Amino acid sequence: MRIALLAGVVAAALVVAACGGDNNNGQQQSASAPGAASAPSATPQLSLAAQVGAKMFFDKTLSGSGKISCATCHNPDFAYGPPNGLAVQLGGVDDNTPGVRAVPSLRYKEFTPPYSDLLDNPDGVTPPGPGGGFTWDGRANSLADQAKIPLLSTYEMANRSPDAVVNTLKAGPYAALFKQAFGENAFADSAKAFTMAMSALQSYQQEDPSFHPYTSKFDLLRHNRGNYLTPQEMHGLQLFNDENKGNCIACHLSGNAQGGSVAPFTDYSFEAVAPPRNMEIPANADPTHVDMGLCQAAATGHTPANSAKFCGMFKTPTLRNVATRQSFFHNGVFHTLRDVVEFYNKRDTNPELFYSKAADGSVNVYDDLPVQYQPNIDMTVPVVHTRGAAPSMTEQEVDDLVAFLGALTDDFQPPSK
Ligand code: HEC
Ligand code: HEC
Repeated sequence: MRIALLAGVVAAALVVAACGGDNNNGQQQSASAPGAASAPSATPQLSLAAQVGAKMFFDKTLSGSGKISCATCHNPDFAYGPPNGLAVQLGGVDDNTPGVRAVPSLRYKEFTPPYSDLLDNPDGVTPPGPGGGFTWDGRANSLADQAKIPLLSTYEMANRSPDAVVNTLKAGPYAALFKQAFGENAFADSAKAFTMAMSALQSYQQEDPSFHPYTSKFDLLRHNRGNYLTPQEMHGLQLFNDENKGNCIACHLSGNAQGGSVAPFTDYSFEAVAPPRNMEIPANADPTHVDMGLCQAAATGHTPANSAKFCGMFKTPTLRNVATRQSFFHNGVFHTLRDVVEFYNKRDTNPELFYSKAADGSVNVYDDLPVQYQPNIDMTVPVVHTRGAAPSMTEQEVDDLVAFLGALTDDFQPPSK
């Protein structure tokens, strides 16, 4: 999360860019090249490793049930996110075992830094804090590391062991391609072959342009290639940046001026936003099951005992393509973007709209985080915290902000003149 000070500056910069039309404001433009540079027609040749990764990504024989692949949960038609509104997807050897967290999009992960308790914030002003890494709790340091998790998880692809994955690859239809990519003896050492297979999945996600197309309306605007945002969407952008209204920019970094060249819509930081407990997740039927994110990520050395200040924190996700999703937050508790923005607007003014009620009718505020960790909850957004007070945004402004989020969806085709 960044301090509010700069938000006004950035808001101003974006408005200038928005009104600037075709005049080229020099360095900023050339610094933000990745989207502009790649001509949509030219499909770059994938490396052999990435070609192996592409086959693996869609290969259902790499699951214990034989029924799911990476693409089942990370569907390319939904920005590599889930294709349905389930809070958690099904997997496992029976293909019927529910997961415990919502499936993130795999787009725009290419600049994710490895996890650190003291990550330098890309905005250049916020003091270092927990950030980076893959999954909602940052426990994998690279895409290659991350790929092991779903392949071996009992509720995802549920392979018995790394050897089982390698044996499937060795006997499968692209074993020859695997050897071409990694050497004639690539299968000789099973542990090494597994590592190569994971790097193949990483290369695919890094190299294939469909994981980072930069083809939203917002990207055209950013690159001075035309402003196709409607007046409502433009207003939503202002609200997004306005520290007294949405203040979304404080974590979902968007401007050219900060965040480097790519407008990732995340600063990779961990924050406790306190979405309500979601009883759609079967594991939550057990009241002692509490997903506290970062402080439970054993792989990064955290436990609730040694990292109490991190309990309730999850990684800030990118908002690019967020309008293609049907469940939101780490626990998938909301199913429309409007509900999410309403929550951000009214979490503290009208908590009764979101949280469960106790037997005496009082509201269990922040009901998915034990009370001793609630001081970790971020107070940047909502802007207004007084129970019963008017929230920072009107209903119309909430609609406008939701409309703007839709301008972050890729594959926008500008109307031909
Ligand atoms: C059954 C559904 C399912 C399948 C199949 C699946 N994933 Fe995932 N994926 C998830 C969930 C859920 C998460 C979030 C996990 C967490 O935060 O603990 C996730 C997270 C990720 C992330 C981290 C993204 C981020 O924002 O940090 C990557 C990368 C990823 N998956 C790649 C893959 C690859 C590669 C495969 C195939 C080998 C795969 N997944 C198969 C459900 C799935
Ligand atoms: C203090 C940092 C912070 C601010 C400010 C913030 N967010 Fe978030 N946002 C997060 C974090 C962290 C998550 C994930 C929280 C979780 O799942 O528990 C998130 C999740 C989301 C999601 C769900 C995305 C998904 O893939 O499920 C949306 C949508 C979203 N934010 C929109 C907004 C909007 C709109 C605003 C401004 C009104 C905003 N955020 C302000 C940190 C922030």
